[in-house]
Amino acid sequence: MDEPTGKQARLDAIRERIGREMVCPLKDAATHMVFGKGNPDAQILFIGEAPGEQEDRTGVPFVGSAGRELDKLLRAIGLTLDDVYIANILKYRPPGNRDPNEDEIRRHTPYLVEQIRVIAPRFICTLGNFSTKFVLAGFDVDGMRKIPGVSVLHGAPREKEVQGIAFTVFPLYHPAAMLYKPPLRAVLEEDFRKLGALLSTQGAQRQMRLG
Ligand code: URA
Repeated sequence: MDEPTGKQARLDAIRERIGREMVCPLKDAATHMVFGKGNPDAQILFIGEAPGEQEDRTGVPFVGSAGRELDKLLRAIGLTLDDVYIANILKYRPPGNRDPNEDEIRRHTPYLVEQIRVIAPRFICTLGNFSTKFVLAGFDVDGMRKIPGVSVLHGAPREKEVQGIAFTVFPLYHPAAMLYKPPLRAVLEEDFRKLGALLSTQGAQRQMRLG
């Protein structure tokens, strides 16, 4: 069979393969796969952690309370779903929203790396410890242990080249973190302002893409 050529068609093919071939206990327990949403041609990719209850119910990432906060943070710097693509480290919900374990990360992230290859974003904004460590370790699950936490890394861009893909990483706290630790709201808002400034100097926002 011929490989699909458009980005959306290539993403659809990855989604279909996860449904067909991925083996993981989370998959058996989940209601829906949560693959990703947004613009496949976006220059900005956000990577969260794992689907929660509402995402599992709908099959769409970031539709629950963390998603509402993420929407507000994006809007505050003039971004919409047309400007970004949003995916997660895990494609299926861990029971009770527990942290992903290493075995799950190993099973799920090869598909995330395929999504990254297709989207080929200029910026990868990581939300929380798991995606920050995975991306900064160069997509290497073993290497994640050596990467400091997001509390150390947040708010500062880093250039990265992994497997021939070059991008800027911008680590951010996970928006859910400010729901249980309210002082983090100001930190996230400030980091998003820095992100907005970085994107506008580098011409990654929609106005500039269309201009
Ligand atoms: N938290 C995440 O990291 N991802 C989602 O899709 C929802 C909540």
